[in-house]
Amino acid sequence: MKIALVTGASGDIGFSICQSLAADGWSLYLHYHSNKQKVIQLLKELEQSFPKQEFFLVQADLSDATAVSALKNQLFSLNALVFAHGTTEFGLLRDLTPESMDYLWNMHVKVPILIAQAVQEKIHRTENGRIVFISSIYGEMGSSNEVFYSTVKGAQIAFVKAYSKEVASWGLTVNAVSAGAINTQMNSHYSGDELLDLKSEIPMGRLGEASEISFWVQQLLKPESAYMTGQTLTVSGGWLK
Ligand SMILES: NC(=O)c1ccc[n+]([C@@H]2O[C@H](COP(=O)([O-])OP(=O)(O)OC[C@H]3O[C@@H](n4cnc5c(N)ncnc54)[C@H](OP(=O)(O)O)[C@@H]3O)[C@@H](O)[C@H]2O)c1
Repeated sequence: MKIALVTGASGDIGFSICQSLAADGWSLYLHYHSNKQKVIQLLKELEQSFPKQEFFLVQADLSDATAVSALKNQLFSLNALVFAHGTTEFGLLRDLTPESMDYLWNMHVKVPILIAQAVQEKIHRTENGRIVFISSIYGEMGSSNEVFYSTVKGAQIAFVKAYSKEVASWGLTVNAVSAGAINTQMNSHYSGDELLDLKSEIPMGRLGEASEISFWVQQLLKPESAYMTGQTLTVSGGWLK
């Protein structure tokens, strides 16, 4: 049995990643923070479609480093980790509080790295170990009004570059998928006019769909992707590239 932890399975991108991986034969730990209903719905759907695979729910507040050991104790074997949880905060840097910085840093950088550290030995024992971060085009190019979010998404990409070198000899690959503007809850605050403005900046003229991100995660988890590590795949409809 090959099994992956998908954080943020209750979010739109994470949900789609779980559907894609399950279709490829993966058993899954479905992580959620507050939206238990959504992962219960996903669990039922996956159990019905893929009765030979196993699906487990795991809850954790990933802005809190003390959650890592409890999370680790809920994982038996593990072949892959996909980090697809997280939120942003809007505003100018001058208004950013130390508490907001800690929150975003812990959620996007410190806690995922602590999880990778905690499960390193488990993944080491498996063939074709995989770690994937859902990062952001803002982590590559930067965005005003989301300066600290851009900072933490860039830190994920830096971690991927460095850690991939440390574990390459184990056959463990570490990559990022850098998403552009995707049609998810995270972007549901945009007004109609704001969405039109945003779309006019994107060469493809539209937002991406969650399935257009999960497709690449699915590819990265295949055994055939074994020689690709330390990379950032940008999936942004040509936006900001
Ligand atoms: N949408 C985009 O345009 C876009 C672009 C680039 C990168 N991304 C990245 O893609 C990832 C997923 O975003 P999405 O668009 O799928 O957003 P989403 O639908 O709003 O999902 C957010 C996910 O993060 C989880 N979460 C929120 N606070 C958490 C906490 N304290 N601890 C643990 N989990 C927490 C949520 O869990 P609950 O619902 O259970 O609370 C949910 O599963 C994020 O890392 C985001 O930065 C998104």
